[in-house]
Amino acid sequence: MSAVLEIKEGLEGVVAATTRLSSVDGEAGVLLLAGFPVEEVAPRASFEEMVWLLWHGELPRAAELASFSARLAAGRALAPATLDLLRAAAARRVDPMDALRMAAGTLSLAPEAGSDPRADAALLVAAFPTIVAAYHRLLQGDEPLTPRADLSHAASFLYLLTGQEPDAERVRGLETYLNTVSDHGFNASTFTARVIVSTRSDLISAVTGAVGALKGPLHGGAPGPALDTVFEIGTAERAEEVLRAKLGRGERLMGFGHRVYRVRDPRADVLGAAAERFYRRAGDMTLYDLARAVEATALRVLHEHKPERRLDTNVEFYTALLLHGLGLPTALFTPTFAIGRVAGWTAHGLEQHDRGRLIRPQSEYVGERGRRWVEIGGR
Ligand code: ACO
Repeated sequence: MSAVLEIKEGLEGVVAATTRLSSVDGEAGVLLLAGFPVEEVAPRASFEEMVWLLWHGELPRAAELASFSARLAAGRALAPATLDLLRAAAARRVDPMDALRMAAGTLSLAPEAGSDPRADAALLVAAFPTIVAAYHRLLQGDEPLTPRADLSHAASFLYLLTGQEPDAERVRGLETYLNTVSDHGFNASTFTARVIVSTRSDLISAVTGAVGALKGPLHGGAPGPALDTVFEIGTAERAEEVLRAKLGRGERLMGFGHRVYRVRDPRADVLGAAAERFYRRAGDMTLYDLARAVEATALRVLHEHKPERRLDTNVEFYTALLLHGLGLPTALFTPTFAIGRVAGWTAHGLEQHDRGRLIRPQSEYVGERGRRWVEIGGR
């Protein structure tokens, strides 16, 4: 007789490890990144500072930041084999997240790959924007651009997409986004990465798996559909009818609900403020105002639909609005999420590598027992 196991479907509420990287308080709606409230650090740090903070637990000093920024800039160029793979993927119009996952695996071709986890981490963070931008251009029929070492990480991504050097506001908006999503406890993709590293596998394998986990619509795949809903609604008066019809068909409203937050996701406020600033500056608040109206209606109808479960706005709703405002097409929303979250995946990989224990939960068997073999002719 085996002991009675308590089953937590989906591991909800299970604490599987300690971490110094982020604290997600789902009841209070508070997110700390390496001890800083998200609203304190995300709008101020450069992405390079954010990555350093997660990897080292402290903000970098000037000399550290300069050499780290140069190191990341030096890792932007892709190996010819990576570009060949992206060309083959573009010829078949593979989904950008699948292209990113396949290209992430090719980073093992770098001479320094596998030498130590920190080298892998730097390769991954440095190369992600180049991969995403190169693939996007190939899908448009354009040639990938050569990375420039004189631009910041975020500016480089925007440059590699368009060939235009972005203005400071646009870079700040993107950095605020990337920092905001850089880490978030044991979410599905981060957990995936930690499980892989926990077997003493390498960070490139771990991050490749994490990209696969992020792709799903219940995790990182929601912002595109969230924005599509806003566009489908078109005018505030139609919000109630469209949203109720979706719920009536059993659909989920994208950008709402969260496994951990029972209140508004604090990242929604950081990104909402960044989006408002951006739309106000551009002088057209139409889409922003429509999104606010859609959000308010969604919260009301969701409350009626599921009064027992508090369903509030999550990070994806304002991600969609901000990234659209920055000029990114919908197809790039989830890959851009990965460009930010790779900071957390690698930081968790390093933490797991240095201190972690093999992650190996159990399952309860509910299948048949004692079956007898039947020869093929008798089945
Ligand atoms: N719209 C409508 N109903 C919802 C929503 C939603 N957005 N979210 C949850 N519900 C309902 C579920 O249908 C379920 O109802 P049921 O008990 O009748 O089946 C109930 O609320 C509980 O939902 P669960 O799926 O148990 O909640 P869980 O913690 O597993 O889900 C999740 C969290 C996946 C984020 C969910 O809220 C969802 O699907 N939201 C929409 C997709 C989305 O925005 N994803 C991005 C999440 S943020 C991120 O990962 C970065």
